[in-house]
Amino acid sequence: MTIKIKIIGFTGSLRVKSYNLAALRAAAEMLPEGVTMEIVDLSPIPFFNEDVEAEGVPQVVVDFKEKLAEADAILISTPEYNYSIPPVLKNALDWASRGPELPLSGKPLAIMSASPGMLGGARVQYHLRQVCVKLDLQTLNNPEVFITSANKKFDLDGKLIDEYTRKSIAKLLHALITKTQHITQ
Ligand SMILES: Cc1cc2nc3c(=O)[nH]c(=O)nc-3n(C[C@H](O)[C@H](O)[C@H](O)COP(=O)(O)O)c2cc1C
Repeated sequence: MTIKIKIIGFTGSLRVKSYNLAALRAAAEMLPEGVTMEIVDLSPIPFFNEDVEAEGVPQVVVDFKEKLAEADAILISTPEYNYSIPPVLKNALDWASRGPELPLSGKPLAIMSASPGMLGGARVQYHLRQVCVKLDLQTLNNPEVFITSANKKFDLDGKLIDEYTRKSIAKLLHALITKTQHITQ
């Protein structure tokens, strides 16, 4: 049976040489046939403000929500900031949680995190999972992917050079695709 799944990926890091962006790129390169992934840049999304929302949701947010709505599945790779969710990511999710159309509701989500530290961003994942309950996402509980010592897992060009991490990401993608198939078929 041929599959056709579209994944939208994004990260809470704005850093050009972000390890989390590099992890998303690595994931995009290991997808099976029929599965595509678009990595969305969150940097143009303005800070959420109810006054701005009341005047009219900015086009960039409308476009972002449309992309989410069209996706079959979501992949987030995020840094951990002070044990929690980076503002860029939380802000994007806050925008997505507003209005009559909730584009993330019911969507399967896989989370990974990368950090130069020894826990690989384990703590942010639990804060993020909590927020995703409110957003009605269907977040995968397993496998958990914490990319520890991320500065050693990617080369200077952001290429993934660690086999264990590659296999972990592949397992996560497999689980996401399987869950997506269950939901959409
Ligand atoms: C404001 C701030 C807070 C941070 N807090 C944590 C933290 O709590 N845990 C952690 O593992 N790394 C922390 N870091 C370090 C990040 O893991 C590191 O900068 C990482 O490279 C960010 O991900 P990126 O490479 O995708 O940008 C923090 C970095 C910043 C800028």
